[in-house]
Amino acid sequence: MSRPTIARIHLDNLRHNYRLARRRAAPARTIAVVKADGYGHGIERVAFALSEETDQYAVACLEEAVALREAGLTQPVLLMQGVHEAADLRVCEAERFTVVVHDPHQLEWLETVSGRPDIWLKINSGMNRLGFAPADLEKVRKRLVRAGVRVTGAMTHFACADDEQSQSTARQTRIFDQATGGLGNITRSVANSAAHFRDGQAMFDRTRPGIMLYGGSPMLGRYGPELGLKAAMTLESRLIAIRQLSPGDAVGYGETWRATRSTLMGMVCIGYGDGYPRHAPNGTPVWLRGTRAPLIGRVSMDMLAIDLGDVPGAAVGDTVELWGEHIPVDEVADCAGTISYELLTGVTRRVPRVEAGESMRLNTGSDL
Ligand SMILES: Cc1ncc(COP(=O)(O)O)c(C=O)c1O
Repeated sequence: MSRPTIARIHLDNLRHNYRLARRRAAPARTIAVVKADGYGHGIERVAFALSEETDQYAVACLEEAVALREAGLTQPVLLMQGVHEAADLRVCEAERFTVVVHDPHQLEWLETVSGRPDIWLKINSGMNRLGFAPADLEKVRKRLVRAGVRVTGAMTHFACADDEQSQSTARQTRIFDQATGGLGNITRSVANSAAHFRDGQAMFDRTRPGIMLYGGSPMLGRYGPELGLKAAMTLESRLIAIRQLSPGDAVGYGETWRATRSTLMGMVCIGYGDGYPRHAPNGTPVWLRGTRAPLIGRVSMDMLAIDLGDVPGAAVGDTVELWGEHIPVDEVADCAGTISYELLTGVTRRVPRVEAGESMRLNTGSDL
């Protein structure tokens, strides 16, 4: 007997989004960012689905890169945080991973350990998270040359590309361009998803789209569909109980919602134990029977309540979309005070990822 809560993965939509990124990046080429388990969609599944479309992947760490090799993928992989141990450099060289170097301690490892993978330099152009100061670049480059390391690329990351009003992205782009212009024939990369939607943004040689591949909007105040993106994940469950509430009846922990009129309430078999945000407030929309219904009361670990008042004919066993084609994940994120990245990567292991079109035996209402 299987629980009726699944994340349906739409690989066609993923490919649609990747092609959109490619078009917006051209003539620059794109690197598919598949870290954090493919933003929650399954790193191997996502990487395979894009293997005909992309010639390079980007991940955060060695474990993710190794997962791609173990799955049989042979394309170059960029480790955007570099390595966390000196000995990992040998693995990176053997597996032909390209390693980002962002800090002096990583330089020292390259000088002392035998592993010599290709290196991209990370430049701090103003985000002040990781990277070398532009003023230190020449010194860093000379040390790498002396150590016999090949520097094949340079990258930076934007702090505010999602905000169309912000001037920071133009400033960071200028700083990066000036800092790396003299580094010779290397690959230069600045653009996250948001940069693909900024008019006039320089794309350099390679872009690094992540969230847009999965259908999440990278732009503040805009939802994925407005940008031509399609949901790569539908989070769905079913109604497992229906109850008639009288005026004054409360629902759920803390009695945070109370009926002011006679209300038909439905319980949906999904909660924060599945990654649905506990902070989603009353009114956060779900979708069933072709219409929206509002969340009511506090989200529990394994279930949540909705008001079925405007859903004609609702019945136990009805499919409920929490986010996906009809309810943009960005909208749920907005309601819950977070971002689509956190929701997508936060869907827990308890929720089976099922590729759209793949059959899976699920309980019907009558089984429940
Ligand atoms: C260095 C770097 N590049 C690219 C990306 C992709 O960003 P986005 O998902 O906003 O496209 C990330 C994501 O966090 C990142 O850390």
